[in-house]
Amino acid sequence: MILQGKRILLGVTGGIAAYKAADLASKLVQAGAQVDVILTAAATAFVTPLTFESLTHRAVHTDVLAMATVGEKREIAHIMLAKAADLFVVAPVTAQTLAKLALGLADDLLGATALSCPAPLLLAPAMESHMWEHPATQEHVRILRDRGATFVGPAMGRLASGALGVGRMAEPLDILEMARAVLGRSGPLARRRVVITAGGTLEPLDPVRVLTNRSSGKMGVALAQAARDAGAAVILVHAPLAVPVPQGIEVIAVRSAVEMHDAVFSVLGNTDVLIGAAAVADFRPADAAVQKIKKGETQELLVRLVRNPDILAEVSAYRQERDRPRVVVGFAAETEDLLKNAQAKMATKHLDMIVANDVTQVGSGFGADDNRVILLHKDGKQEMLPLLPKMEVAERVVAQVGEMLGKI
Ligand code: CTP
Repeated sequence: MILQGKRILLGVTGGIAAYKAADLASKLVQAGAQVDVILTAAATAFVTPLTFESLTHRAVHTDVLAMATVGEKREIAHIMLAKAADLFVVAPVTAQTLAKLALGLADDLLGATALSCPAPLLLAPAMESHMWEHPATQEHVRILRDRGATFVGPAMGRLASGALGVGRMAEPLDILEMARAVLGRSGPLARRRVVITAGGTLEPLDPVRVLTNRSSGKMGVALAQAARDAGAAVILVHAPLAVPVPQGIEVIAVRSAVEMHDAVFSVLGNTDVLIGAAAVADFRPADAAVQKIKKGETQELLVRLVRNPDILAEVSAYRQERDRPRVVVGFAAETEDLLKNAQAKMATKHLDMIVANDVTQVGSGFGADDNRVILLHKDGKQEMLPLLPKMEVAERVVAQVGEMLGKI
């Protein structure tokens, strides 16, 4: 939702990755943003204004001396564009334009607009690796970072020359995710640190076999995105996931419940919020075999399981150097007596809120893209949500967390 109605200024400079900027413009428009595009002269050698006009349904700007019409008024284009923007993205940004932005040169529309634009700047560099690694470029990157610009990429991969190296523009989806993160920085969770657990843990039986569950981790990843979009610094401690983790989220990958427990406690200091969305195995094989278990003539195999630590309950009871996170939220995945079981879990684990979902419902719960949940608060407040995409459920949960933090 964060891009809905936002005004994004998209600067495109002259590199082969300019064709991917068309995909980025399209994705921004689909996310509800109003996109104004500036093409440098070199960019028009790779892509045409018509490409972007067709995607954004708005005039595309190329001329520093041009005037633009706003309602009844005629204004200088770069002043008008700069004033209106919520975010200025330059993708791809060449070594030449990075230098121009670092030095504050205003010899074309992009440079002049950047100098007049108070909105945050997001840069997606694309160039050959030797240009990216050159001390001059790195110095420009440092200057721009110090001034508050955010960089996404460049990534490692095949470059225009055919060589492999660092210098590929970040993928449009990654730039879009970073745009969301930058726009969210002043949101309700600004300056808050949020730790989220996600995924289904793997409990080893022997070197090749594990006990696990059906969790895809989608809900946890959506929560991480929503918290990031609300301005939080997010750490996602996750067991294997069926979905990629988007930009702007710090990740700690783990496998077992014990590893997840240790990782959570290693980052818990100064944490404001913990959301336990992981499907943590309650038990693990008591003695994982060092070598692969051979079946031989055995007709029956008994595996002894021992209890895993309850991460959420331990975090809630945490009373060391720093106190417990101010808000602790859990999930209750149930197949019967949803409210009763969820309420009992909230009480025994001393949670501030629990997200209850009946995992037997069709189209909701494990692996699904949607979820139907009930939000239960420790003060007895209940909110029953309709079947919603997991991203929207995550936004509602994060909004509630923001409200709770506001009251503390
Ligand atoms: N959880 C956890 N550590 C565990 C087990 C669960 O942190 N060892 C967290 C989950 O991330 C979730 C909540 O506790 O937020 C509820 O987990 P669930 O497995 O549904 O409940 P349990 O407490 O394990 O109870 P039961 O398995 O008996 O339903």
